[in-house]
Amino acid sequence: MKEFLTDVETLRKRARENMDKGSVTDAYGADLERVLYVLNQALATELVCVLRYKRHYYTAKGIDAQPAADEFLQHAGEEEGHANQIAARISQLGGEPDFNPETLLERSHSEYNSSTKLKKMIQEDLVAERVAIASYTEIIAWLGDGDPTTRRMLEEILAVEEEHAEDMLDLLGGLT
Ligand SMILES: [Fe+2]
Ligand SMILES: [Fe+2]
Repeated sequence: MKEFLTDVETLRKRARENMDKGSVTDAYGADLERVLYVLNQALATELVCVLRYKRHYYTAKGIDAQPAADEFLQHAGEEEGHANQIAARISQLGGEPDFNPETLLERSHSEYNSSTKLKKMIQEDLVAERVAIASYTEIIAWLGDGDPTTRRMLEEILAVEEEHAEDMLDLLGGLT
């Protein structure tokens, strides 16, 4: 059997040092400042996605496109869930989740869209999902084994974004 890396005495001693860091120990293998920065970008991305999907939900409802509106509302709820997960992880890592609306769009990878045409809404949502998929894939690869908890959370979110992209593609196909 592979021997344990650090002896128990040292592990216990280290755990008592820097107790104010909470869950972040010497074993944390990622660049914490950079992780917090990237997570705040992801938080902004999710929040912009919530706003865009909400806007599309209420606009599509107005033009009587109920099936699309239902998808938009469901996605808005799921993006909000992602934002909550990411904000909680930022706090757990000792950072500050940034909800400042003034800088939201600058920090977001995805874009807002206020189209009134259903097809354009769906296209823009598909693009935003593809942006999120590409950026989460990069972040996951960059994290490697340095922060398995953050990586696992992002992997779960990524899987949902892939479903979202599929949903938007299906909606788009149903239009033509
Ligand atoms: Fe999301
Ligand atoms: Fe999404």
